[in-house]
Amino acid sequence: MNPQKTWSQRFESSLNPEIERFNASIGFDIELIEYDLTGSIAHAKMLAKTGIISEDDREKLISGLETIRQEYRNGEFNPGIESEDVHFAVERRLTELVGDAGKKLHTARSRNDQVGTDTRLYLRDRIARIRQQIRNFQTVLLDLAERHVETPIPGYTHLQRAQPISLAHHLLAYFEMSQRDWERLGEIAKRVNVSPLGCGALAGTTFPIDRHYTAELLGFDRPYANSLDGVSDRDFAIEFLNAASLIMVHLSRLSEEIILWASQEFSFVRLKDNCATGSSIMPQKKNPDVPELVRGKAGRVFGHLQGMLVLMKALPLAYNKDLQEDKEALFDAVKTVQGCLEAMTILFREGLEFHTQRLAEAVAEDFSNATDVADYLAAKGVPFREAYNLVGKVVRTCLESGKLLKDLTLDEWQALHPKFESDIYESISPQQVIAARNSFGGTGFDRVREALAVARELVR
Ligand code: ARG
Repeated sequence: MNPQKTWSQRFESSLNPEIERFNASIGFDIELIEYDLTGSIAHAKMLAKTGIISEDDREKLISGLETIRQEYRNGEFNPGIESEDVHFAVERRLTELVGDAGKKLHTARSRNDQVGTDTRLYLRDRIARIRQQIRNFQTVLLDLAERHVETPIPGYTHLQRAQPISLAHHLLAYFEMSQRDWERLGEIAKRVNVSPLGCGALAGTTFPIDRHYTAELLGFDRPYANSLDGVSDRDFAIEFLNAASLIMVHLSRLSEEIILWASQEFSFVRLKDNCATGSSIMPQKKNPDVPELVRGKAGRVFGHLQGMLVLMKALPLAYNKDLQEDKEALFDAVKTVQGCLEAMTILFREGLEFHTQRLAEAVAEDFSNATDVADYLAAKGVPFREAYNLVGKVVRTCLESGKLLKDLTLDEWQALHPKFESDIYESISPQQVIAARNSFGGTGFDRVREALAVARELVR
């Protein structure tokens, strides 16, 4: 018999040391300790309130648990493999500290409902932090967008120049994505915030516990209605990993654009020295490591989502040890998303400088105003398809003669169609092309200013 183990006397010999290591989760679930202590304090209060333990035991348990919290915060509580997991580690230390009272804490509770409680408390906290980080990132995006309402940038479809747009409009597209991320996390938080405490191992308990009371003490909206579901549900973790994956999709798309824009080929943006890195061999290099890492880290978060889905599929009710595998995935996804949001916030706050001159040249040197020539004629009553075909021909002739649309003389325009007048030049200037797209949700400067104001209101 291994005297250190918390398991029952049913076991005659001690665990094989390799198996002990294989089985243990203390190496990573120590991350849950603060939540484990908080959950245990609520449980102790409930046990006393319902008369299951004495007031005296309650006081001992609470003070012992708070002592462990202090020890942990001071770096003095470092349980090893022999504790198996954070729950056993706390119970052992508690019994050392307060004696027999410590052995009463686990009355009417199982590690199955306990670990579910801890994980939900942890995730609830992290979701709140991530939502705040999204707000910070959004604010930085808006600050940048506000400075670039009238900065033109080529807009692309198929990564081919399409129509010029306002740089602020481009940035605001990412604001919208992150707004959905913020909202989605808020919706998930409701399903995270349900208490499994008191579900016991799987079937509830014979003790007259009060699950509504512990739920309330811990700030949960309600207790799980079914004990089997309560101990084995990890939908909330999958939902979080899904939301985390979408955050990474959005950050990764933005990263990809920064990487392209910072290339010599685009030269739309310059990375400042505080957010770029050099090469060990090529002295001229300045690399976009931050957005590259964010783009790369997206993969591991998607992997955790996939892993968690596979973990849950075909798992019979109720608790199975497989569920111990949920934690590293969750912790790593949380850490990754938090790290990426932080890095991108810094990058967008102080690490980028747009080449406004180069952007202005870019939108003036191509045919991205061709739609506007067609629109010009269509507005004068020429059927759009007819105008479109005519402009296609003009573009081809221009390409042959090495000219841009703005280089055509008024005579040339009028030879193409009598409806062209001298205002055609103004109509196809990049500023006008952007300003004129004033439909709701469009890139017109007035619309962008309105959208900025609405966005500011949202993050306030
Ligand atoms: N370390 C376990 C986990 O993370 C705690 C629950 C263990 N329960 C059990 N019956 N073995 O899932």
